[in-house]
Amino acid sequence: MTVEDVDALDPARLESQIRDRGLRLGTPLTWLAEVGSTNDEANRMAAKGAPHGALVVADMQRAGRGRTGRTWHSPAGCNLYFSLLLRPDRPVGELAPITLVAGLAVADGVAKFVSPHEVHLKWPNDVLLSGRKVAGILVEASTTGQQASHLIVGVGINVLQRTFDADIEATATSMAQHSSTSLVRSEVLLAVLEHLTRHTEQFARDGFVGLLDAVRRRDATAGREVRGAAGVGTAEGIEPDGRLRVRLRRGESVLVGTGEIDIVG
Ligand code: BTN
Repeated sequence: MTVEDVDALDPARLESQIRDRGLRLGTPLTWLAEVGSTNDEANRMAAKGAPHGALVVADMQRAGRGRTGRTWHSPAGCNLYFSLLLRPDRPVGELAPITLVAGLAVADGVAKFVSPHEVHLKWPNDVLLSGRKVAGILVEASTTGQQASHLIVGVGINVLQRTFDADIEATATSMAQHSSTSLVRSEVLLAVLEHLTRHTEQFARDGFVGLLDAVRRRDATAGREVRGAAGVGTAEGIEPDGRLRVRLRRGESVLVGTGEIDIVG
C-alpha cells in the first residue's frame, strides 16, 4: 500500500471539518492535485476577489518556492503545501511579524503530534523539529500605498516524507521521523489552521506583543551563536517588533530585521 492510498486528502470532508470546528480561516478551500506554487495560485485568486481566509492546498508543487529564491521540494502524497489568503486591516509597516505569528501557529500545530518541547522557531521563518527543519513559511504581501491589500501565507510542512534529496538531507526532517503513531495530513492541517486562526486574530487585536512570550518560548536561537549579514554573535531574543537582537562578537548589539541567520554554535 502506498502513502497516497493511506493518506489521500478528501477536500470536501476537510472543508466540512473546517466549518464544523468553527475555524474562521480555511474556507473557501481549493484543493489541487498539482500546481506550480500554491502561493501563486492564491495570489491569482486574491486578484479575482477571493475573501480573507481562503485556502489553497496542493498535493504536489512543480515549482514550490522558499525564501531568497530557494526551491521548496514538494513531492506528491506525503506532505502539506498550502497558502492562506489574509486581508489584514493594518498598515503594511505593522505586518512584519506576521511570518513569526504564522511560524508560531505552525509550530504549535506540529507540536500536537510530536514531542512538543522538540519544536522550535528559527527566526524568521523556519520551524525546527529536534534541530532540523520540518516546516517553512513564505509570506508575500501585495500593497496599495501604506495598506496591504492582501497577504499570502505559504506553508510547507514535511509530514510523511521519509527520505530527502542530498542537498537538504543533513538539515531537513519530517514529522513521521519523530512520531510513533501514524499521521494523517488533514489532521495536521486542521491543527495548524486552529492555531493560525487563534494567533492571527490575536495579532489583529493586540499586535505582536500579545504573542511575544509564546514566540520566545519556542525561540531556537536565544543564547546560541548565530551568523547573519551583520556578522557572528550571540542571539539575545526576539524583540516586540519581531526583530532579532544579536550581540556581535565585537561587542555591538544589533537588531536584525531582514535576511536569514544560521545557528553556528
Ligand atoms: C522557506 O522555508 O524558505 C519557505 C518555504 C515555504 C514553502 C511553501 S509550500 C506552500 C507555499 N507555496 C510555495 O511555493 N511556497 C510555500
